[in-house]
Amino acid sequence: MTDLSLGGSTPAVADDGVWLACVECGDTIAPFDDVVYECPDCGGLLEARYDEYPTFDEFAGDGVWRYAAALPFPEGVSIREGNTPLYDVPEIKAEADVADLRVKHEGANPTGSFKDRGMTVGVKVADRLGVDRLACASTGNTSAALAAYGARANTPVLVLLPAGKVAAGKVAQAALHGARICEVDGNFDDCLDVVSELADRGEAYLLNSLNPFRLEGQKTIGLEILEQSRDAHGNLPDRIVLPVGNAGNTAALYKCFRELVEAGELDEADVPKLTGVQAEGAAPMVEAVEEGRDYVQRWDDVETRATAIRIGNPVNAPKALPGIYDTGGTAVAVSDEKITEAQRMLAEDGVGVEPASAASVAGLLKLRERGDITADERVVCLTTGHLLKDPEAAAEAGGDTTPVPADADGVLDAL
Ligand code: F0G
Repeated sequence: MTDLSLGGSTPAVADDGVWLACVECGDTIAPFDDVVYECPDCGGLLEARYDEYPTFDEFAGDGVWRYAAALPFPEGVSIREGNTPLYDVPEIKAEADVADLRVKHEGANPTGSFKDRGMTVGVKVADRLGVDRLACASTGNTSAALAAYGARANTPVLVLLPAGKVAAGKVAQAALHGARICEVDGNFDDCLDVVSELADRGEAYLLNSLNPFRLEGQKTIGLEILEQSRDAHGNLPDRIVLPVGNAGNTAALYKCFRELVEAGELDEADVPKLTGVQAEGAAPMVEAVEEGRDYVQRWDDVETRATAIRIGNPVNAPKALPGIYDTGGTAVAVSDEKITEAQRMLAEDGVGVEPASAASVAGLLKLRERGDITADERVVCLTTGHLLKDPEAAAEAGGDTTPVPADADGVLDAL
């Protein structure tokens, strides 16, 4: 049984008010003494815990480190991540027919995805632990972010990618930032199995979202959404709709809200309903939610044009499923066609995203059509990655080019 309650006294293993706790057996572990990714006793997922949870008036500055009071350190290995825009999207709002709709565009981070928020914390922990190699399995964005933050920290980076299934922009980023890129004959889940074994053998420090410190950084998405909604619009969203791969963000947002409730900053009734969206060809979380299960069953064969979320074994499910259930959210699967349609709609509102990101909007439209989301709701959709991450998908979804001669009349004739 997953136990995500935050209360309780500070254990002896705490370091400056921070410790790790197993979400399954409750065991507590010193956070920075040894490299640890899962509970040594029972193998459960770990979560960072603090002796105190901050109030909004403790936050100052901008970006991820504005929220240092909610993080394990006062500062990280930073390339100015976070502080991403919360956009109005009038066309999609009209189509969805909801009281309010905004898009939190994580594509505006330094490497073009939300992964930067996790890496600024995770690579700092690696630095503190004194590791000499960082590694991840990735559908692309994690590898791009880790390559950049590893470069910034002067630590070598190894990335394992599913061969032929990673969008061009992401491989280019990892390559230019100097990561060692291995293309694995297998899917993302196979890559994660292999890199986890390398990490267990002490060959590298693992920076996938299994690493609890990554999710600490990703919590700041939720803090920003709440502050931006409150400051610009005077209200909080009823629901946050987000794409799901490994379910790291779902887990991180839920933790963010639990901490705010613990600090007395958010009423339990005001916690946004966490609503996950997967592609139909890679939807084990949706299957679990539809069957009311508290665990996922791995899908061995996964396929979708939204390669970022081409994942059959969402490792953070034990943290994320309680988030969906306890907030009154849900999960839904959408087709690749609907994802592309949503990508075009976002583009028409001026917001350029990669396919996985558009899944959130496609999911909103589907749930609205089904009546699972009602017209009186204020909704935030999370768009997780920038359009240029996957230039091929963008070009396919967009209009064609027109060959013209090099003169003005020729251009006008062609129009
Ligand atoms: N959207 C994008 C653009 C992603 O890159 C990912 C995950 C997700 C959504 C899913 O987020 O795992 O928190 O549910 N990408 C990982 C990677 C797996 O390797 O880049 P999640």
